[in-house]
Amino acid sequence: MPNLSSFRASWLRPFLFYGNNWLSLLGGAVTTASAMVLVGFWVVGFFGRSGSANPYLGILFDLILPGVFVAGLVLILVGILVRRSYLLSTDQVPAFFPEISLNDPIFRRGIDFVVIATLINFIIVGTASYRGVAYMDTVSFCGATCHVMTPEFTAYHISSHSNVACTECHVAPGTAGYIHAKVNGTKQLMMVLVHDYPKPIMANNKVPVASSTCLNCHSPEQFVGDKIAIQTSFADDETNSKTSSLTVLHVGGRDAFGGLSGIHGAHMGKIEYIATDTTNQTIPWVAKTNADSSVTEFLADGTKSRPTGAKRLMDCMDCHNRAAHSFDTPENALNKDMAQGSPSASLPFVHKEGLALITAKYVSREDAKVRITADFVTFYRSQYPAIWNTQRPQIDAAAKTLVNIYSSNVFPSMNVKWGTHPNNIGHNDSPGCFRCHDGNHASKAAVSITNDCATCHNLVFTDELHPKLLADLGIAKAN
Ligand code: HEC
Ligand code: HEC
Ligand code: HEC
Ligand code: HEC
Ligand code: HEC
Repeated sequence: MPNLSSFRASWLRPFLFYGNNWLSLLGGAVTTASAMVLVGFWVVGFFGRSGSANPYLGILFDLILPGVFVAGLVLILVGILVRRSYLLSTDQVPAFFPEISLNDPIFRRGIDFVVIATLINFIIVGTASYRGVAYMDTVSFCGATCHVMTPEFTAYHISSHSNVACTECHVAPGTAGYIHAKVNGTKQLMMVLVHDYPKPIMANNKVPVASSTCLNCHSPEQFVGDKIAIQTSFADDETNSKTSSLTVLHVGGRDAFGGLSGIHGAHMGKIEYIATDTTNQTIPWVAKTNADSSVTEFLADGTKSRPTGAKRLMDCMDCHNRAAHSFDTPENALNKDMAQGSPSASLPFVHKEGLALITAKYVSREDAKVRITADFVTFYRSQYPAIWNTQRPQIDAAAKTLVNIYSSNVFPSMNVKWGTHPNNIGHNDSPGCFRCHDGNHASKAAVSITNDCATCHNLVFTDELHPKLLADLGIAKAN
């Protein structure tokens, strides 16, 4: 085999000769280590254990590890070049490259290094694979490990999109979207590693537009028509007086005859706006493209001309911005849970006490858990001993619910507090629709964006004590 021996003499021997330096050996170790970890995960993935939707796993295995692998190769090459140029400059290049021989102490040292490095590799691979499999097994990878995502992750699990992967809304389809997401994700991962990330994390218009995400599953044309919303509220009095409201929302859409109506019909593809803050809460300029392609501009009171800033075409997310991970208001969260039975409205002042406890300041979620439970129990034990004696199960359950409400919505470590992430549906808890529909956005012709309550909904009744209609509808007992 003349070819093989000449290859040995002119390539392999010089390679091993020059490669016998610490830099190249380190490069070799790094390369084999990352290669083995990668292969380990590919094997695990092949057997179906890597069904995690977490984009960060992809970043680790698609970007970082291959990067480390290539960096190792580069180290080998740099080591070889450095040693070669050093030997050349000091005239130490041998006429013949040494035979590969175990008797050669330099070569043996190299072998020792490789053996030790491989051993260490095995330990690394073993640990990494074990940890990796454990990661992949828990769906809560993101919530547990990437703690900066805990708020969204927590809220996500109780949303109607809890079966929709984060990437369905956060990564635009196609190669460009994929690369964009990976680059962004890597940047974010670095920010987490060096503890330099914003708290709270806000979307800042980085979520891809609805046409490349939401509309893969939802039709913008779907006709929803009128939607009935019933809300139950409890008051701060001793008996936690229960009232109900019934609103009929004119959601509309495109009807069977092609006509557009209602809330959905009014905006899609027609409304553009400029916001002056990063969360799109302050909107001084709005434009509507009319049926005849003319454009009507609306300026907020006090705004003289179109402000600078990016124009945004209104889409699903401008209203449904909290579709997958909504943080509630304390009142709504408490009312909803009380309507379902816990905290039980049979406990005197439970609404008032509960609200005070979930809105108090705590340094951490653990602190909140301990203090909400203790203070709640103390309140009944000291103020209502008879109730304390007879309704212990309700009191304990209520305390648990309060802790749960707090920990589903407040994340002190990430500065996510009540109201940090406003929900744009509605207008009572945050500006929402009234960012534009406040009656103070007028066109040149002095026509303002409608503020007429009935355009959006019929308030059939609001905060009624014993609404007969709910009883008639079979929704509530008339009591
Ligand atoms: C149904 C679509 C959808 C899914 C699924 C989804 N998100 Fe979001 N996400 C959004 C939208 C829309 C925003 C923009 C919110 C805004 O502008 O107020 C957002 C914003 C965010 C933000 C910025 C901070 C914030 O809360 O506004 C983070 C972080 C985030 N999402 C993480 C996640 C994670 C983690 C998952 C999976 C567990 C996930 N998202 C799943 C639609 C989605
Ligand atoms: C991968 C598919 C998928 C994507 C992408 C998706 N959704 Fe959904 N969405 C669903 C499904 C399925 C439901 C129904 C859940 C149910 O009925 O319980 C739903 C329900 C909803 C609802 C009604 C329930 C609610 O929470 O009020 C809204 C509103 C909604 N989606 C908005 C959006 C928006 C806005 C986006 C883009 C940011 C989006 N969806 C992206 C699948 C998707
Ligand atoms: C101008 C604000 C606005 C825009 C834009 C908007 N929606 Fe809605 N949508 C609403 C309101 C208000 C409701 C009714 C309240 C609710 O269900 O939370 C609603 C309800 C829904 C529902 C629930 C319907 C049901 O039967 O319960 C879905 C699904 C939905 N929207 C999807 C979308 C999608 C997809 C888009 C984008 C193509 C979109 N919406 C754009 C305001 C909007
Ligand atoms: C970015 C600004 C903006 C936001 C936010 C916004 N709208 Fe609009 N909306 C408009 C404009 C502009 C018009 C068209 C002008 C008009 O009809 O007054 C319009 C029209 C409407 C119409 C039709 C009015 C009519 O006279 O037929 C309804 C209904 C409506 N919006 C409901 C909503 C609801 C509900 C929300 C919140 C979930 C909302 N809008 C949020 C800008 C906005
Ligand atoms: C641009 C559309 C729009 C206009 C105008 C509007 N609202 Fe609303 N309103 C909404 C939407 C959307 C919701 C929230 C629905 C939800 O929470 O799902 C809402 C919710 C409410 C609620 C809470 C209902 C409940 O279930 O507790 C009240 C009360 C209310 N509006 C009163 C008014 C009054 C009074 C006016 C007139 C001054 C008005 N709204 C004008 C869109 C509008």
